[in-house]
Amino acid sequence: MFSKTKMWTCSLVLMVLWQVQASGSESLLKLLAHNIKANDSDAVCLQCHAGVADNTMNFIHYPAGAGACSYCHVAKPEHLDGSNPAGSVSINRKAENCYTCHDRKDDKPVVHPALMDEESCVSCHNPHASNQKYFLKEESVPALCSTCHDVNTHGNSQHGPVLNGRACVNCHTPHSGNYEKMLLKPAKDLCLSCHNKEIQATNGGARTIPNIQKKLEGTVHRGAAGSCLACHKPHASENNRLLSAPWSTKTYNTYSDRDNAYAMCFTCHKTEMLKQTDFVTATNFRNDSKQLNLHWFHVVDAAGNEDKSRGRSCKICHDPHGAPQAHVINSTWFMNGNPIKIEYQTIDNGGQCTKSCHATRQYRRGN
Ligand code: HEC
Ligand code: HEC
Ligand code: HEC
Ligand code: HEC
Ligand code: HEC
Ligand code: HEC
Ligand code: HEC
Ligand code: HEC
Ligand code: HEC
Ligand code: HEC
Repeated sequence: MFSKTKMWTCSLVLMVLWQVQASGSESLLKLLAHNIKANDSDAVCLQCHAGVADNTMNFIHYPAGAGACSYCHVAKPEHLDGSNPAGSVSINRKAENCYTCHDRKDDKPVVHPALMDEESCVSCHNPHASNQKYFLKEESVPALCSTCHDVNTHGNSQHGPVLNGRACVNCHTPHSGNYEKMLLKPAKDLCLSCHNKEIQATNGGARTIPNIQKKLEGTVHRGAAGSCLACHKPHASENNRLLSAPWSTKTYNTYSDRDNAYAMCFTCHKTEMLKQTDFVTATNFRNDSKQLNLHWFHVVDAAGNEDKSRGRSCKICHDPHGAPQAHVINSTWFMNGNPIKIEYQTIDNGGQCTKSCHATRQYRRGN
């Protein structure tokens, strides 16, 4: 028969259980079922080990804070009375022991190899307490990951989320996940989960990074339709804009085969499209009656300008991701912050272009 107090305790526990279940924290539920508390022998541990989980730490692991040392340690009498402390107490470092209270962390298809060691958890977590959330063993997530990895996070361009905020775990789960490299989402979805809006950049000078998702709503560049990683590195790069090959962000460049300002594009496309000889099969952007390769004309010949450093960048006409008009052609680009409109139309065997700064021009293939 239940005493009044027992019934009271019982309903209190049920109330807590219900609240815990409502917040979806299965671990706490399991934990409450364990009814973690210090046993008689635990009570003496803190007399000699007050420092393992004291209030000077910002975060204390519940069982250590509760003085319930025996969940993970078994001490012989000679340890407790201090007569022979060395070698007379066990330490259970096994992940399986953590799983007696916690949900499994290795049950998703892509498991971090760091978890495959049977004593893995304590390579990253302090079992007692630490000044870092989740009792991490290092002062920050990147520092923790760097104890085993040498991921390059610095370069000519570096990616804000790699070191800011939740850092590495902005994109990776530290335990196991559904996607390769333990990414939180498939790579492209992950990139677009942040680049689906304008972002005010600070790395490498203040500027507004455009909404990339929006660009993919127009004519999508087929090179960008699959994966962002076809051109970008996720962490840092020696090239501009985290690109995997050199690229000039300037709108005008002197074109040179050797020091190619647009090398990024030519990891997939052929530079023949920029030559004024034998261009008939190399590009469709040409005017056959004038025997002119219009890619060469704009990019290499600087549109006839004597100053060849005024060669037009691909990005004046094309956006590498996607753009509103056919052949991934922009409808606006900016010269010193001023918008220049480009109206492009395909015509039989060619195209025509009207720009704020020049009248409608046409090109045709075939004679
Ligand atoms: C009388 C003091 C005293 C008490 C009580 C005591 N310890 Fe210790 N403990 C020590 C000393 C001293 C050492 C260092 C031994 C050594 O040099 O290896 C130690 C070491 C340890 C270690 C590290 C062992 C290793 O292999 O590195 C653990 C774990 C530990 N104690 C847990 C406990 C727990 C759990 C309790 C309570 C059940 C407890 N101790 C009670 C004095 C004490
Ligand atoms: C959740 C499991 C767990 C609980 C609870 C726990 N410990 Fe530990 N303890 C460990 C593990 C695992 C290690 C070894 C850590 C390592 O190798 O990095 C350890 C190491 C130690 C050490 C060695 C020195 C150090 O700080 O690493 C002492 C002393 C110790 N524990 C005392 C205690 C005392 C006293 C309690 C109770 C207040 C306690 N522990 C509660 C898991 C636990
Ligand atoms: C006896 C049960 C028990 C064991 C064994 C145990 N834990 Fe815990 N752990 C808890 C409880 C209870 C909490 C507090 C949950 C909360 O605050 O959300 C907790 C919290 C944590 C947290 C913080 C979770 C959060 O969301 O803030 C981490 C990390 C953690 N434990 C790691 C470990 C590791 C690593 C081990 C094995 C070395 C371990 N735990 C073993 C009961 C346990
Ligand atoms: C490679 C390092 C690493 C290893 C190994 C590791 N963790 Fe973690 N763990 C982390 C980091 C980092 C976080 C914080 C994640 C975040 O901020 O989202 C975390 C968070 C947690 C949390 C709280 C959030 C959550 O996911 O539930 C628990 C509980 C936890 N770890 C338990 C464990 C257990 C149990 C093991 C062993 C099976 C383990 N961890 C192994 C790095 C690690
Ligand atoms: C205790 C060592 C250790 C720590 C700490 C560690 N890792 Fe790992 N990690 C490994 C090992 C071992 C591998 C497999 C070998 C490799 O790819 O380097 C690995 C592989 C990876 C991979 C590639 C997985 C794949 O499928 O190819 C990623 C991503 C990763 N770790 C991210 C992280 C992140 C993020 C952190 C910090 C939260 C971290 N690691 C901390 C040991 C560790
Ligand atoms: C913006 C998202 C993002 C952030 C933040 C991030 N990563 Fe990655 N990481 C990725 C992607 C995407 C890949 C897969 C690259 C590939 O497959 O080419 C990757 C791959 C990895 C790999 C596998 C080896 C490699 O270089 O391809 C490791 C290890 C890794 N990351 C560790 C880390 C560490 C450590 C941090 C924090 C310092 C971190 N990552 C931060 C997105 C990110
Ligand atoms: C967690 C949010 C987040 C995710 C996920 C993310 N980014 Fe970013 N990205 C940012 C932020 C914030 C900046 C601006 C950082 C700054 O300059 O301060 C940025 C900047 C960039 C830049 C400009 C870098 C430069 O040097 O100018 C590129 C390129 C980029 N991201 C590509 C990607 C790619 C590719 C992915 C997927 C692998 C991705 N991003 C995933 C938040 C994110
Ligand atoms: C075909 C190569 C290519 C692919 C694929 C690609 N990008 Fe880019 N990305 C570029 C180039 C080139 C630039 C530099 C454009 C410039 O200088 O204005 C760039 C710039 C960026 C920037 C910075 C924009 C700015 O003005 O600072 C972000 C963010 C970005 N890309 C995200 C993505 C995302 C997200 C994906 C996947 C959906 C992706 N990229 C796929 C080539 C590519
Ligand atoms: C990862 C490979 C890859 C890279 C790098 C790449 N592209 Fe492409 N590009 C493609 C593919 C694939 C197509 C589709 C080919 C086809 O339709 O025959 C394409 C087509 C195009 C088209 C034609 C679109 C149309 O509808 O006619 C343009 C314009 C273009 N790319 C511009 C660029 C520019 C500018 C760069 C550099 C910023 C670049 N590409 C870098 C793969 C790439
Ligand atoms: C002055 C505007 C302009 C510039 C600058 C420009 N393009 Fe184009 N590009 C076009 C037009 C217009 C087409 C469509 C030709 C057609 O199919 O009628 C085109 C087509 C393409 C194609 C499809 C294949 C082809 O050649 O017909 C690719 C690939 C391409 N451009 C890449 C680039 C690259 C890479 C650069 C920079 C090195 C660049 N473009 C610079 C206007 C431009």
